[in-house]
Amino acid sequence: MKYFIVTYGCQMNVHESEKIAGILEKLGYECGQSREEADIIVFNTCAIREGAEDRVLGNVGALKRLKKKNKNLIIAVCGCMTQKSKTAEYLLSTFPFIDIVIGTFNIPKLGDYIEAVKKGRQLELWEEGDIDEVLPYKRTSGENAWVNIMQGCNNFCTYCIVPYVKGREKSRQEENILAEVRAILSEGKYKKITLLGQNVNSYGKDLVPQVSFAKLLHDICKIEGDFVVSFMTSHPKDLTDDVIDAVANEEKIEKYIHLPAQSGNNRILRLMNRKYTREDYIKIIDKIKAKIPNCRLTSDFIVGFPTETEEEFEDTMSLVRYVHYDNIFAFMYSPREGTVASKMDGQVDDKVKHERVNKLLALEKELQKEVK
Ligand code: 5AD
Ligand code: SF4
Repeated sequence: MKYFIVTYGCQMNVHESEKIAGILEKLGYECGQSREEADIIVFNTCAIREGAEDRVLGNVGALKRLKKKNKNLIIAVCGCMTQKSKTAEYLLSTFPFIDIVIGTFNIPKLGDYIEAVKKGRQLELWEEGDIDEVLPYKRTSGENAWVNIMQGCNNFCTYCIVPYVKGREKSRQEENILAEVRAILSEGKYKKITLLGQNVNSYGKDLVPQVSFAKLLHDICKIEGDFVVSFMTSHPKDLTDDVIDAVANEEKIEKYIHLPAQSGNNRILRLMNRKYTREDYIKIIDKIKAKIPNCRLTSDFIVGFPTETEEEFEDTMSLVRYVHYDNIFAFMYSPREGTVASKMDGQVDDKVKHERVNKLLALEKELQKEVK
């Protein structure tokens, strides 16, 4: 019996697919090389932009042919996109050959749904889930091991679907994270530990007693062995001095910070509910540059947020010029149903979004040619 997993979206989702693979292997499935040879195909989806959802719909649709050939093939769709009940129901009614549709919190129970498929199609979406289950991961990322330290997000940036599909922030107990890191390192084949969370800087605020992200970093660095620690993603409003100091002073921490700015304009940042100004952001960047020479910096930007003017977009361009990132990810704003921004007046034309994203990427290309 073979499985094949198709993953969309961020690194957290890639890691989630390692969990899915672990579950399937425990059930006796082996990793297949293609959809054609699989007995079960799992689509682990992303909902961050419309494009991600469209790709899922196209590729799930294409499975009809395989199901015709192999009546016993099980097709499961899970993840951020299916966590929205409307989308989950749409998938089930549009694609009669899908067997299982589950949300982000139901994944640990995947085995039960597979078992129940004999009795009929499965649809289940839990509103929340436990983060500390001990599950075997099938790690797939070479010398790097992903380690989830928290799930969910409390920030409610007005454009973002994540808080709706991943729930509120929940941190793992520090000792469980340390035990996982020790176990990973004892296998001897991993050189890098990448800590994952939607907002790693808020790590531990929900624990009793509280634990700071900086403490977690220091405690991981105390573990013996030859390895590098990295983390993502940081929110500028929560990136504290003690974390910057940890990156500066701990030899084991990679000199790299992904710090999504999203926009360089204060009015747009306010509308996005980012809770920092351009000036706050620049202050953090200056601090990082002063304390961590040669620190690699990357960022995400959204262009064409509702009501964004050409001048306001130019503030994003000038911020990118000022920081001189090692790389940026630029996205055209994509309205997500249920979010505050999707209901705002002044949605920007696709043509304008295209122009702005191209301009921003062209600037980044120019900057990459220049010496920092
Ligand atoms: N439209 C476009 N980009 C988005 N992002 C998040 N939500 C949206 C959206 N609705 C971008 C942000 C985030 C990255 C992971 O995706 O820049 O940092
Ligand atoms: Fe990752 Fe967000 Fe996409 Fe979910 S919606 S896969 S958390 S980027």
